[in-house]
Amino acid sequence: MSADRQAEGAQRFDRAGEALVDRLASLYGERGDFAEWLGDLCQALGTLAVARPHDLAALDRQRESRPDWFIEQRMLGYSAYVDRFGGTLAGVAGRIPHLARLGVDYLHLLPFLRARSGDSDGGFAVASFDEVEPAYGSMADLEALTAQLREAGISLCSDLVLNHVADDHAWARAAMAGDADKRAFFHVFADRARADAYEATLGEVFPQAAPGNFTHVPAMGGWVWTTFYPFQWDLNYAHPPVFAEMAQAMLRLANRGVEVFRLDSAPFLWKRPGTNCLNQPEVHVVLAALRACATLVAPGVLLKAEAIVPVEQVMPYFGEGDRRGQECQLAYHSGLMASAWAALAEGDAALPRQLLARTPATPPGTGWITYVRCHDDIVWNVLRPLVESAGGDFHQRIGRAAAFLEGRVPGSFARGAAFQAGDDDAIHGSNGMAAALVGLPDDPHVAPDPAAVRRFVLMHALALWVGAVPLLYMGDELGQGNNADPADRGRIAADGRWLQRPHLSAAAMAALEQQRGVPATTFAALRALVAARRRPGFPAREAVQVVDAGHPGLLALRRGPGALALFHFGREPVAVDLAALGLPADARGAISSGVEDTGRLRTLAPWATLWIIPEREPGDA
Ligand code: GLC
Repeated sequence: MSADRQAEGAQRFDRAGEALVDRLASLYGERGDFAEWLGDLCQALGTLAVARPHDLAALDRQRESRPDWFIEQRMLGYSAYVDRFGGTLAGVAGRIPHLARLGVDYLHLLPFLRARSGDSDGGFAVASFDEVEPAYGSMADLEALTAQLREAGISLCSDLVLNHVADDHAWARAAMAGDADKRAFFHVFADRARADAYEATLGEVFPQAAPGNFTHVPAMGGWVWTTFYPFQWDLNYAHPPVFAEMAQAMLRLANRGVEVFRLDSAPFLWKRPGTNCLNQPEVHVVLAALRACATLVAPGVLLKAEAIVPVEQVMPYFGEGDRRGQECQLAYHSGLMASAWAALAEGDAALPRQLLARTPATPPGTGWITYVRCHDDIVWNVLRPLVESAGGDFHQRIGRAAAFLEGRVPGSFARGAAFQAGDDDAIHGSNGMAAALVGLPDDPHVAPDPAAVRRFVLMHALALWVGAVPLLYMGDELGQGNNADPADRGRIAADGRWLQRPHLSAAAMAALEQQRGVPATTFAALRALVAARRRPGFPAREAVQVVDAGHPGLLALRRGPGALALFHFGREPVAVDLAALGLPADARGAISSGVEDTGRLRTLAPWATLWIIPEREPGDA
């Protein structure tokens, strides 16, 4: 190793070494073998740091000097399944021109590591952190893809499924074969009474498809904790080797060129009797320790929390107190996403308005992942505290919104479907592609209803206005409808989330090439939003502030002194006086969808969007 790299490593150790030791000591310091274990971990981190390839080390250096590089860059994300988007990892590389045309510079590929054979929850049951799913290619293909993406200015984001492994992962297999250390990797109760004691305060993620949180495994002689599917075994982070293994698995992937890690199901990592076992204080210590490992070995990487919980409970994932800004740089704003869909159903902007008003600014060097749709359902529970604090009955109010989006209300334009709800009164989640939920036609060649196009623009414009990294979902750029592939019928019946997991449609891609129908319209609309967001005057570093626009359907959001966006969720046109909102009456719209200029006033049609962006960012000369 060169003297420079050595000096750099020593500097990093001065900066983050103490934090790592503190965090790990608070989790595991009481154990007799702590010092020895820590020594081994530090040695392993040192080896990984030495093995870091030169081009990635160069990226680390650049990013260390500009910790909010991803905010400044105004990244645009795109999320896709490898097989459904490109077939294989090499096929994904073939899609780079499509991503580049859209302006994407952050690609989240859903799990691509070797998954359990048979059902694997879309790859979220990982059988090996060091092998690629054979149908998608090899580790060499992964390295080739990350290099090609980097060349095109695109950062690859990979899931790091932290909470569980597949029941055929080597750790689970060793545990079943009687290996005591590997048994300690999991939560196993010989006696059902202990499981029942926990069940009393636990929720259920899949109440229909996988009820309960424990699975009886004869080979383990007891009940294994399985929050998700019975084949996904929760890891026990109270056992230090679990942390050490996962940290090294992450850094090995980072050394292969993964630049962002989506920390899957982060809230579930620590169990405590008598609680719902979500967001426990130790979860944040584990994540902050993981961040310290990244800072030591691969400081250019970003950590992103997948914490689908109410917004107040998401904030700590950015790091709080003396760890402020020291945990995940990114976190999903699922409350904003769910509240926007509820607003569309209600024809009223109250929920996103209230939600954004109670969303604090994120710490420096951190920001929100915003999105309209993803591979999962719209999880309604994240809105419970908001709805209840506004004095509403959660079940009634959100039940109505969900019924609307699921097309169970006369006059609804939406074609979603309920997820894991036994009857029409139970609410859990809603499924559906964005296009189906806003009422765009399934046939890509049909000319879309302008009102449905405005709804599509409205939902995406909100995500692009608010987020540090807005994330598009594969197929939405083409306005693709729900997954109607006959080959997926069985999967959809077993787990309704497959409704929003179609293959990239060849017909829609062809329509885009010919500049026809829905795909041409949605693609152009997104490109316009992306271009407006990348204008020099877009205040990427300014916090979003809610402004009272004096109409229940209107959501008005300011960013900095000169930038304002109006999102109209109401079903009647509304006239707005820009001067009353503190803007020059002649301010020109950077995005103007469904807006008519009528002298001093702007008339916003139902579902209209207006973005006003100054020429320059505040503070620029
Ligand atoms: C995350 C994923 C979801 C998966 C679950 C279990 O929530 O987004 O698709 O089922 O984790 O891994």
